[in-house]
Amino acid sequence: KKRAPLPDDIRARKGGEPLVSLTAYTTPMAQMMDAHCDFVLVGDSVGMVLHGLPSTLGVTMEMMILHGQAVARGLTQAMMVVDMPFGSYEASREVAFENAARLMRETGAGAVKLEGGVGMAETIAFLVQRGIPVMAHIGLTPQSINTLGGYKVQGRGAAGEALMADARAVAEAGAFAVVLEKVPQGLADRITADIAIPTIGIGASAGCDGQILVVDDMLGLFTAFKAKFVKRFANLGEQGEAAIADYARAVRAREFPAAEHVFADEAPK
Ligand code: KIV
Ligand code: NA
Repeated sequence: KKRAPLPDDIRARKGGEPLVSLTAYTTPMAQMMDAHCDFVLVGDSVGMVLHGLPSTLGVTMEMMILHGQAVARGLTQAMMVVDMPFGSYEASREVAFENAARLMRETGAGAVKLEGGVGMAETIAFLVQRGIPVMAHIGLTPQSINTLGGYKVQGRGAAGEALMADARAVAEAGAFAVVLEKVPQGLADRITADIAIPTIGIGASAGCDGQILVVDDMLGLFTAFKAKFVKRFANLGEQGEAAIADYARAVRAREFPAAEHVFADEAPK
């Protein structure tokens, strides 16, 4: 059986076969993807996808720990990365260390992910120097939605240079990989060619060193909205609702439970 890759193994995949990753929040989803993904992200998207929050800003350390523990129980081969939630790492490098260490200690995660480029480089270096592997996340960073002014494409035109600077800063700070979210394809390709660590695209480019999607998006389970960069590889939400409608009909028609679902008065000999 394959052992789970370490952050250095992920880093070494730069320029090779694309890295495959998805988010997961529960044990059964983690089990479903364990053999197919190089790493699994316990994303703070859990707040929107499973808890119905309007953004990721309301996600807490306790939520990340509970979902991280659930995902860890479903993985034997893929590496687990846990998102640092909004408010758990921005105030200082020391606060970031305390919370990152707690996430790793209580979930068994092999690494944490945090949002930010040049402004977070010092924090990334501080964590990495103290034994915490960090995946960075630049471009559209949903925890900054109130200062970014919406979920728009990042780094178009003159803003491309700032995004390149973010990519270089997190790579130099010691991040082992960086997520590029919702950035133009050409810029994603230039960043991928420029930096020494793998780029993980979501709404970026097929030329990135890997890809990630929110699993409920690609399974068609999350249907509140669909970003352009989401491909629905299945429509489980529709299938699920049809199954529930069938169950409701069968109960009302007294078709369910049927003979095979009920117990005889006498125990079988
Ligand atoms: O929280 C999340 O799901 C993420 C991925 C989309 C990269 O950060
Ligand atoms: Na996230």
